[in-house]
Amino acid sequence: MAKSLRNGVIPEAAADMSEYRLQYGIPSSSIVSWQEVEMHFPLCNGVEWVGFVDWTIRDFHSYNTEQGTTYNAYLVLDQQNALIDTVKAPYAQDLLRNIAEVTALDAVDWVVCNHAEPDHAGALPEIMAALPNATLVCNEKCRQVLARYFDTSRWKVRIVAAGETLSLGERTLEFVPTPLAHWPESMFTYLPQEKILFSMDAFGQHFASPQRFDDESCLAAALIEAKTYYANILTPYGVPAAKALAAAAKLDIGMIAPSHGVIWRKHLPRILEAYQDWSSGIPRRKVVVLYDSMWDSTAHMAQAVHEGALCAGAEVQLMHLRQSTLTRIATEVFDAAAVAFGSATLNAWMMPMAGAALAYLQGLKPSKKAAVAFGSYGWSRGGPEAVHEALEGLKWELVGPPIKSQYRPTQENLEQCRAAGAQLAALALAAGR
Ligand code: FEO
Repeated sequence: MAKSLRNGVIPEAAADMSEYRLQYGIPSSSIVSWQEVEMHFPLCNGVEWVGFVDWTIRDFHSYNTEQGTTYNAYLVLDQQNALIDTVKAPYAQDLLRNIAEVTALDAVDWVVCNHAEPDHAGALPEIMAALPNATLVCNEKCRQVLARYFDTSRWKVRIVAAGETLSLGERTLEFVPTPLAHWPESMFTYLPQEKILFSMDAFGQHFASPQRFDDESCLAAALIEAKTYYANILTPYGVPAAKALAAAAKLDIGMIAPSHGVIWRKHLPRILEAYQDWSSGIPRRKVVVLYDSMWDSTAHMAQAVHEGALCAGAEVQLMHLRQSTLTRIATEVFDAAAVAFGSATLNAWMMPMAGAALAYLQGLKPSKKAAVAFGSYGWSRGGPEAVHEALEGLKWELVGPPIKSQYRPTQENLEQCRAAGAQLAALALAAGR
């Protein structure tokens, strides 16, 4: 395999990886030197990873990518050669350099676009211009989206429908539509001779690492990032994700090669089982207590809710909204059966970060939660009532009116909070897995 400095980890990212190793127990010996990052890497004989590792990205359209990400592209070599997906626009030249390490640019016959989102299709204009003999392969919906983003008038395009195949010689590509997992045009490409599923966003993780395979990386880290990815990207599309999973189940799969993160080969049952769980919509027996406070009154109430839920035997996560990120908050809420959401009153309304979290959740639409609002106020109503209304908007099952305390919570207020925590815990224990 060829190595490169250009994809290398800068010291800041290297420090993050050290922290990650400590956090998740990855032995340092399993991390290669930061100078040694592949330009291409074989999945098997004649199938190469040629993507880009984006070590330093920390914001992916508001998703907090604490561990960076990768844009995975793959080259399938045969009598005809096919590139599966591309990369984000700024890294087009890196992709071309990686392809050129494997084969001549004029020997690429096909460029398959599984998904038109610009993190995978953004480089297409440069790639199509640099591959003189390449024909783009995509479905009709994808062609329409790409034509909105780019001038596609000079591209040779082959439209493929569900179940259609493309022979490369000894090997064949099969196309499996997976609409709305993640966009309407999303599809899988399957290589039956090698049992590889190129799954675009599905089964992916925003996880930059020097390793390409799950069994070379820390499994816990890969699964955590896969769950974070599902929670923040695929939560609104649980039904399409379940359909994509059912489509994958019909195939004889030995390896899943997603568009982000590590490639699944040893731990396929773990990631498939995880997707089964996540797309089922059945929550864990977990209560999440989210809050933001001004002068600690709402913080005391949150601690009382937390105490009540813990004593009732549920798994409980206590999170200060301003000490966390929207990405982490959504991930914890995603598989919780119950949520207590607290805010102090600021200018007769909820705290800004409470508003941001609720707006983010409104878009993601995590369902089937029991919930309660709580918080403090001074001389005017505002915070807890606004949270209560927003929770109603999420169509969560509210267990009662907002719990409010004026200036400082009284013992009676704190007892109400403990009782609400216990009630949410009981519902979580009954509903969760
Ligand atoms: Fe990784 Fe939906 O793009």
